[in-house]
Amino acid sequence: MKRSAVYLVVVTLFGYSSCQHAKSSQEDPCQTKARVVGDETYCDRYWECVNGQPELYDCPNGLVFAGKNRGVTEGCDYPWRSNYCDGKQRANPPIGTEHCGWLYGIFGHETSCTRYWTCWNGTANEQLCIGGLLYNERTHACDWPENVDGCQKHPLCNDDPNGNVPLGKSCNRYWQCQGGYPRLQRCPAMLVFDRHSLRCVVPPTEDCDVPSTIPPPPQEEEEENIPKGRENKGNQQQEFLNLPPGAIPAGKGRPRN
Ligand SMILES: *[C@@H]1O[C@H](CO)[C@@H](O)[C@H](O)[C@H]1NC(C)=O
Repeated sequence: MKRSAVYLVVVTLFGYSSCQHAKSSQEDPCQTKARVVGDETYCDRYWECVNGQPELYDCPNGLVFAGKNRGVTEGCDYPWRSNYCDGKQRANPPIGTEHCGWLYGIFGHETSCTRYWTCWNGTANEQLCIGGLLYNERTHACDWPENVDGCQKHPLCNDDPNGNVPLGKSCNRYWQCQGGYPRLQRCPAMLVFDRHSLRCVVPPTEDCDVPSTIPPPPQEEEEENIPKGRENKGNQQQEFLNLPPGAIPAGKGRPRN
């Protein structure tokens, strides 16, 4: 009899104190201008003021709360974009589908260093890193091969880590492999890339005539041979300005390589 009374008191005290604690630390969304606040404990949850009452919501699976009108959908964002989860946990476990670790996210490819998956509500879309870049698991973006652990060498350079590789049907651009890392290069003026000797030569060759002295309009030549990545285009443009010593810039005013 005495024992169970003590037990009851303990439960009551514990319940009371934890309730007090939750109330004091969790911000009430109805007291804020945005009417939405992140959960104190879980970074993938938020509270929204609905009809004057705080209601708890989960971010779409794989995303974490970023703030009203922020992130990629419903105020939620990819967790690696900021320190959203510092000092917090996630309430929800991953829901995986084919190629997707979570319903929403960006994931590495199972068999390729140049490909990756973007997942939206569990539907995977295959993406390609262009311009000799590889998918970097750490930044979830395309990156120079030397920054990508485990994928340092590019498949383009498999045959010869220091050889040249034709770029589609291009007559003046080619890949130069440097220790397995491909670099986009352009033949000096008036020379064309010969796909047999793998060097810049005086034209004509089997495939290439004497180059026109009139520069082709931007984006005109052989763009179809470069796979178009949907992500990180701006990033890649920047990267191309950063060619290694000795590289010949691919031309001014060109939107892409
Ligand atoms: C996500 O997909 C499920 C079924 O696959 C569907 O019921 C749901 O409406 C989708 N959600 C969004 C936000 O598109």
